[in-house]
Amino acid sequence: MANKDLVVVILAAGKGTRLKSSLAKVLHAAGGRPLIEHVVRACEPLGAKRTIAVIGYQADKVAEVCEPLDVATVLQQPQNGTGHALLVARRAIGNAKYVMVVPGDAPLVRSQTLRNLVVRHKKGSAAATILTAVLADPSGYGRILRKSGDTVAAIVEEPQLTPEQRELNEINSSMYCFTAAKLWPALAEVKPSQHREIYLTDAISILSAKGEAVMAEIAVDPRETLGCNTRADLASVDHAFREWKREALMNEGVSIQLPDTVVIDSDVTAGQDTIIEANVQLLGKTKIGKGCVIKTGSVLHDMLLGDAVTVEPYCVMAQSRLDEDVIVGPFARLRPATHLKRGVRIGNFMELKKSVVGEGTKAMHLSYLGNAKIGAKTNIGAGTITCNYDGFQKYPTSIGNKVFIGSDSSLVAPLRIGDGAYIAAGSAITQNVPADSLGIGRSRQVNKAGWAAKKRREAASAANGSNKKTKKRG
Ligand code: UD1
Ligand code: MG
Repeated sequence: MANKDLVVVILAAGKGTRLKSSLAKVLHAAGGRPLIEHVVRACEPLGAKRTIAVIGYQADKVAEVCEPLDVATVLQQPQNGTGHALLVARRAIGNAKYVMVVPGDAPLVRSQTLRNLVVRHKKGSAAATILTAVLADPSGYGRILRKSGDTVAAIVEEPQLTPEQRELNEINSSMYCFTAAKLWPALAEVKPSQHREIYLTDAISILSAKGEAVMAEIAVDPRETLGCNTRADLASVDHAFREWKREALMNEGVSIQLPDTVVIDSDVTAGQDTIIEANVQLLGKTKIGKGCVIKTGSVLHDMLLGDAVTVEPYCVMAQSRLDEDVIVGPFARLRPATHLKRGVRIGNFMELKKSVVGEGTKAMHLSYLGNAKIGAKTNIGAGTITCNYDGFQKYPTSIGNKVFIGSDSSLVAPLRIGDGAYIAAGSAITQNVPADSLGIGRSRQVNKAGWAAKKRREAASAANGSNKKTKKRG
């Protein structure tokens, strides 16, 4: 749906004093994204002529989020209230017929709800249409004073409520659709508060007093209007996002055990018949194929998983790729830029970083593989370490196909081990090993016959001697 007669203004200049944070409010995350990103994405499908964010506190950082999302920014300095924010944006809004205002701190709003608000406003030919909600606990929000059945007389902010008005439980969501020709004259009449702020909410009573129609559209799901003014608000908004995300994935055929314990960011995807066990976190832009199992306690950040991948319990992995049929863990750590090809098995207490592991290769126990390129069907023994760092620089290790690395080997990079080579257990390998060769990097073993028996005899006779001395003294 295109709305080329509409400009959307997202209010995002405030500091968010009540959060007690050094980070601007709209940059705080819920559901794995900054609040303002959720708002922008909800506005995108409206097809407005322009979307503008009014920014102020930490403007550069907020602009960094807005600009890639194709949202223009206008600077409000100082931040003298929600009405002032709109006045600052006036030039950027230009001659649009309709202005939609959305606060940057109410991220649960859905596109469909905003779309309905625009449709309702255009049909109703009102000066303003407000999205409202009926809340069990309306405290902290501006309250809607109704004039007659469905028109609004005023919005009263919490500090100004009379004792009777405190009972009102219909709140202002701060999402409005205005007819621009009515909005600007009303805003011009708003008088600054005692804190010298111009409240957009005051424009509502001015419009109403002029006899203009102000309509209210009650949100079907009141959670969509929740604003994040405090840390507790942030937590409940985050909770709602997580719940919605889990529900969406379950509807697509993903099983989630003990859903309340599972944290999934908004951008995550997972294929049919994937099972996500309790206490798993799927973060960032993680993409999981079909028929995977992500077992308890694992944390995946920006991961790409093919089909039928098994992640055993308590794995921590980031920015890496696991192809089909890979099995990892338990207790494995995959750091960025790791790629495990089809059928690879990585066992317990393994760390991998910036490494490519070829099809069917196994590395089952207690190893560090960094800056390594490993071929197919190779076996990496327990306790293998790629010594990739000399204190100054990182160096690569290349291991071919069907190689056997014996346990407890140190592979000192830069190093190449050819196809089919063997490395003797306990080696420190510092030179390249050609294909099909045996590399041994340790001193030869010597067996001293009878050494242990002699040692025990000597120890026994020494103990005997000292016993006799003690007896004599006694
Ligand atoms: C506002 C409404 C209140 C409503 C509530 C819904 C006003 C006066 N009050 O209160 O009726 O129930 O939202 O969540 O509008 N902002 C600017 N520039 C400013 C001030 C604020 O851009 O000068 C931005 C903030 O960054 C924020 C949004 O406007 O994203 C709303 O401001 P906030 O301080 O959160 O207002 P509330 O007290 O929540
Ligand atoms: Mg707010």
